[in-house]
Amino acid sequence: MLEKDAIQHHFDGHCAGESWYGRLFARIYDPLLAAAERDSLGWHRRHLLNQAEGRILEVGCGTGVNFGFYHPDRKVDAFDPSPAMLAQAAEKARLAPAQIQLEHCGIDEYQPAHTYDTIVATLVLCTVPDLERSLARLQDWLRPGGRLLILEHIRSHKKRTALWQGMLRPAWACVGQGCQLNRATDQHLLQHAAFQQQELVYFQNSLPFMRGVFLRRPEPKQEPRLPIL
Ligand SMILES: C[S@@+](CC[C@H](N)C(=O)[O-])C[C@H]1O[C@@H](n2cnc3c(N)ncnc32)[C@H](O)[C@@H]1O
Repeated sequence: MLEKDAIQHHFDGHCAGESWYGRLFARIYDPLLAAAERDSLGWHRRHLLNQAEGRILEVGCGTGVNFGFYHPDRKVDAFDPSPAMLAQAAEKARLAPAQIQLEHCGIDEYQPAHTYDTIVATLVLCTVPDLERSLARLQDWLRPGGRLLILEHIRSHKKRTALWQGMLRPAWACVGQGCQLNRATDQHLLQHAAFQQQELVYFQNSLPFMRGVFLRRPEPKQEPRLPIL
């Protein structure tokens, strides 16, 4: 983990190793989303992050769009694999009322020191290379009864829209750094044995979106083994 004052300099240094498109994407990310944030995304982020309590982890924090929404009392660990994104996140972390610790890594590399009460994943489960593997990791990192807070664009429930999402998916992934336009993240979560839906809201913001709160189910009790006679 890095101290607040050192992080900006640290990530600026690492950006040199990132592709030019990665750096460009990070630079245009906030302006690109500005209209959608004003329209309704910002409102949904605020509503969702109000529910972040206890030890908090934010995965794939990007430029740190969420940081301003955490309650001032909160301590948040956050990580992202893009140094260019993290350089901007460092600046937002410095200005945020909450205490934010940043780390440079992806979901497959993160090594938590403890479990979390809340895990936040906004607009990132669309991009992770293997959704089921990522959900298994989040399950391990969340304490039983802990909350998984999700904001995500999803595959439309309307056949015709889902069809064009499927057709656009490869080009969209190229432009959007691997973002999968037609990933049915809501269905994966609803069918996941470890997560129990607490809140699920669907809304439209150019694309179909979900905002969800899922509780990590307790581990099933091990049946005591009967001695074999
Ligand atoms: C669309 S941006 C979302 C950023 C931020 N969470 C938000 O709500 O605005 C997707 C982010 O996921 C990050 N990302 C990509 N692959 C990842 C991975 N394997 N593990 C964690 N984050 C990843 C990207 O670097 C990028 O910052």
